[in-house]
Amino acid sequence: MAAETLTIVDNRTGAEYTVPIVDGAIRATDLRQVSAAEGDGGLMAYDPAYLNTASCRSAITYIDGDAGILRYRGYPIEELAETASFLETAYLLLEGELPTADQLARWEDDVRNHTYVHTNVTQFLEGFRHDAHPMGMLLGAVGALSTFYPDAKRIGDAEGRYLQRVRLMAKLPTIAAFVFRHARGLPYVFPRNELGYIGNFVNMTFEIGGRHEPNPVLQRALEILLVLHADHEQNCSTSAVRGVGSSHVDPFSAVSAGIAALYGPLHGGANEAVLRMLDEIGDTAAVPAFIEQVKAGKGRLMGFGHRVYKSYDPRAKLIKRVADEVFEQTGLNPKLEIALELERIALEDEYFVSRKLYPNVDFYSGLIYQAMGYPTDYFTVLFAIGRLPGWIAQWEEMLGDPEQKISRPRQIYTGPPQRAFVPIDRR
Ligand code: CMC
Repeated sequence: MAAETLTIVDNRTGAEYTVPIVDGAIRATDLRQVSAAEGDGGLMAYDPAYLNTASCRSAITYIDGDAGILRYRGYPIEELAETASFLETAYLLLEGELPTADQLARWEDDVRNHTYVHTNVTQFLEGFRHDAHPMGMLLGAVGALSTFYPDAKRIGDAEGRYLQRVRLMAKLPTIAAFVFRHARGLPYVFPRNELGYIGNFVNMTFEIGGRHEPNPVLQRALEILLVLHADHEQNCSTSAVRGVGSSHVDPFSAVSAGIAALYGPLHGGANEAVLRMLDEIGDTAAVPAFIEQVKAGKGRLMGFGHRVYKSYDPRAKLIKRVADEVFEQTGLNPKLEIALELERIALEDEYFVSRKLYPNVDFYSGLIYQAMGYPTDYFTVLFAIGRLPGWIAQWEEMLGDPEQKISRPRQIYTGPPQRAFVPIDRR
């Protein structure tokens, strides 16, 4: 059998090195021995934006980007979306196995018992302007939760971590709902714990005068969307949670960093950007001209392309189906036609085909959220609620991994060599 090693010849010195290959990877630190001169520190791997660097071992989520496969803990996303509840999916991600009926009941109970937030949270939310972006409010509020729970600093204590995990899962929808109502000047609605996770959230967002008529089809659609967003291995926000968490800060602060990363238009903010793009296009007749602009490098087709998926994002496929069910209830979103036309043209166009740019999870999700009654700038908040179990699971995995240390990449210095300080009157 061929050796699972890599032989490197350093042409600067003629020296030969053999390094092991494990799980299809070499260790970047094995390159340190490749040295051309004493004190040069050895060879580094240069990989801006981590295009080809595995930063951890993970047993949580599997993606095959070429084949369009996504699995949580081995279970295909299609099967989970079909049958599992969001809390069941969260349990799977966090614990590694699907819960038994008893385990699920206990988990649901624990989360239900922590949905209330300290009333001071409502006071500092009041400090935000009426037009504050919901994601800015959310990341601030979740970061601030760390000050309410100083015990969260004890990250070495498994029971303590469980409590913080429950608090995060329970309180994020409550805060998200408060953020929703803040923008409308509506009084906050507190959790009603006889309702389920999704029902409670929807009630807290939409209840008026003590009344809200739940629509089970829309609630299940929202639940499926959350399941589809629950984890996606080492994406930008998850890497942020892991990176910030690697300093051993409390999980509220680490998750708040994840929310900040998700806010960006190249990541979770893309669902909002898609709707703005559809508004800007305005009409199906304007689609070809818009595509030409994108091809000329003037902007991107938002909701298209992915670092990992080089075929149709499996989540986008499932979301298209959910969209049909939702629009049956709410009536067609008029922007759907523009989106379908964009997709049709892009999937036939050489520019997009050759770059393997397909619709991603964000292309259709915004249309659904809008049909459900959520405003454009709120979409990424819904993504954050969905992604939370993934962030916590990855944070826990990072803490338990004996190979992990504080995250601290290296650099190739390109600045000036040492020079003498010039006093201000001589510059
Ligand atoms: N529209 C037009 N051209 C694109 C697009 C797009 N959406 N995405 C990539 N390209 C082009 C890009 O210009 C480049 O072309 P060239 O080789 O001629 O320079 C080529 O495709 C490769 O792009 P890249 O920027 O090197 O790819 P990346 O892996 O760094 O970026 C991405 C991935 C998702 C940031 C990018 O595809 C993008 O900006 N998409 C639009 C934003 C979006 O929908 N984001 C949501 C991602 S899925 C959910 C999530 O992660 O939150």
